[in-house]
Amino acid sequence: MSTKSQLSPDQQIEALREDLRHHEHLYYVLDAPEWTDAQYDARMNELRNLEDAHPELVTPDSPTQRVGGKPKEGFAKVAHSRPMLSLENAYNEAELRSWADRVAGGLKASETVKYVCELKLDGLSLALQYAAGKNGEAVLQSGVTRGDGSVGEDVTTNVRTIRSVPLHISAAKLRSAGLPQQFEVRGEVVLPQKAFEKMNAEREAVGMAPAANPRNAAAGTIRTLEPNVVAQRRLEYFAYFLLSAGEPLLREQSAALEALRKAGLLVNPHARTVNDIDAVLKFIVEAEELREKLPYEIDGIVIKVDAVAQQTRLGFTGKAPRWAIAYKFPARAAITKLENVLFQVGRTGKVTPVAALAPVNIGGTTVKRATLHNPDEIERLGVRIGDYVSVERGGDVIPKITEVVEDKLHPRGTKDIVFPSACPVCESELVRVEGEVDWRCVNASCPARVSGELLHWASRGVMNIEGLGESMVAQLLGQSADAVGNEEEVIEDGASAAVIREPIIRSIADLYRLTQDQLVSLDRVGKKTADALLAQIERSKHAGLARVIVGLGIRFVGERTAQLLAEHFGDIDTLRKAKAEDLEAVNEVGPRVAEAIVDFFGVEKNVALVKDLQQLGLKLTAEKKIVGTQLADQTFVLTGTLPNLTRDDAKERIEAAGGKVSGSVSKKTSYVVAGDEAGSKLDKAQQLGVRILDEAGLLALLAE
Ligand code: IVH
Repeated sequence: MSTKSQLSPDQQIEALREDLRHHEHLYYVLDAPEWTDAQYDARMNELRNLEDAHPELVTPDSPTQRVGGKPKEGFAKVAHSRPMLSLENAYNEAELRSWADRVAGGLKASETVKYVCELKLDGLSLALQYAAGKNGEAVLQSGVTRGDGSVGEDVTTNVRTIRSVPLHISAAKLRSAGLPQQFEVRGEVVLPQKAFEKMNAEREAVGMAPAANPRNAAAGTIRTLEPNVVAQRRLEYFAYFLLSAGEPLLREQSAALEALRKAGLLVNPHARTVNDIDAVLKFIVEAEELREKLPYEIDGIVIKVDAVAQQTRLGFTGKAPRWAIAYKFPARAAITKLENVLFQVGRTGKVTPVAALAPVNIGGTTVKRATLHNPDEIERLGVRIGDYVSVERGGDVIPKITEVVEDKLHPRGTKDIVFPSACPVCESELVRVEGEVDWRCVNASCPARVSGELLHWASRGVMNIEGLGESMVAQLLGQSADAVGNEEEVIEDGASAAVIREPIIRSIADLYRLTQDQLVSLDRVGKKTADALLAQIERSKHAGLARVIVGLGIRFVGERTAQLLAEHFGDIDTLRKAKAEDLEAVNEVGPRVAEAIVDFFGVEKNVALVKDLQQLGLKLTAEKKIVGTQLADQTFVLTGTLPNLTRDDAKERIEAAGGKVSGSVSKKTSYVVAGDEAGSKLDKAQQLGVRILDEAGLLALLAE
């Protein structure tokens, strides 16, 4: 402690930064953390406080500066230092051997060739430029997408949020890696499977279409205009190629990978240098097995000639290097027969056509179902029952039908798919809102919808009621224990759900009235199981307001919005009675969400449910977040880069003082806070006569 206080502020700041960088590297690159999250946060806060006190010492490569200002108007186009080429593909052993023969043919007969085998990461390629900093270090200067190969987009603001991309590489690290201060790295941005699933769950919770696969999700994320959203997505960057301005920096690809690793970048650990194609084939077999266990997607392997001198002599064809090739795994697809189409009714009443397929093995998994999404998709595919179809399994998403196959072996089916006009479960007429593709069952008491509502209520992240799964819900609703998800027998005979007895419950509220006697009357439920379930249900009463709001299943209201609503309104009655404008006063609640909430509480059944829950003793209150009032009713717009505060910091401080931050300037805007390179928003503020503040002005206002 005593030595620390003797350090000058800039020495303290530098020491903290070094520490944080080291531990970020341990955590995000080496996956071997030594600090707990709390320790990390504490150091980060210490650095933030010091930087707040000494704004003149803030530098862009500080660990505090990962999430900065937004790109103003989209992303600038940037020319690549050298084209970002793609690779030629090989799909089998013969094609690989013929590539190896061409490589040998391009070199002297006496030469031996080594190959580096790497995983082919399924994301998007990205170039990073590092430039010289003041003290012999390298500083991240830009991150640019591949684009058309010659010109890409400058997505630096988003790349900075990727924790495995160092913003700063110390002189010592550069020395140990044998790298100069200026160099370019090429690599792949990927979205790990878990992050992909989380992102899709969030999108679906708020009624948005899920991304089709992690590659699309990564590509969409890197082009998002909100760096704080990108930061939450947890992208990864794997470096696999090193470029320098003049002479090659290193003599082998394998040495380049090692240098990148030493410099602190994330290099995929599954690379191997081998002496011949037989060893490449062995690597392929191992990679195919590994593929199932990796937390991110790969779609093949890349084989590169190791020696840079040989690479140079081999050169390029028009589009691709001759010294490398991509071996692509066989697509995880198969042809099978479409035997039937089932219609599933979800919690919101949405009717989804599901293909019932002749079981087929695709990459080790037996597939029997594929989604057909909606009637438009059926029309687009032109598919009939009895057709042979090509089915693809990508990532972990539900398999999908990509096309109808037609040849001598695969004659066309003859039965048209008829989209039902009535709900397959409750038989009430289906409704399609103008402009939407989906048909919906609007009967709020439809057993399929109630079953969906109950499962959502019980799910993890909502009320977390263990033991209330599909088969239990089916039984409680009076269906057979195997009538899971109202899918199978509902549809195969086209009739309604097999109701085998009077339902025990008809709504979420009824869960809280269940008795042990009722439960033990069900198949395969003994006293022990019944008591365990009752205890879980009882426990869920204390989950709190935010969980209940999520559980209600209001359109567009996911976990985060529910939390904000709970903190703002404090209890369910105030929320229930809120008008659209009251709702829009909550940060992050826009007109669309506000309308969905008003609509929800406009339905009598929903209000009755809430009142029931209240009487049954559920906790429907939350701690109201205390917000200051000095900026109450004032709306702020932030534009440009502020000298010290990041945009998130500024927003947080304004909100803590009761103010609101909006994205666009109008007559109603109270203040525009303008920093460097403020754009059209500043112009507009001037036109409209809106008061303009700089950072100091904002801080003064906050301090009042
Ligand atoms: S090397 C000239 N190595 O695959 C060198 N590419 O199909 C070109 N990719 O555009 C790239 N993993 O986006 C290389 N280990 C790896 C790779 C890899 C994935 C991607 C990259 C490239 C595409 C070509």
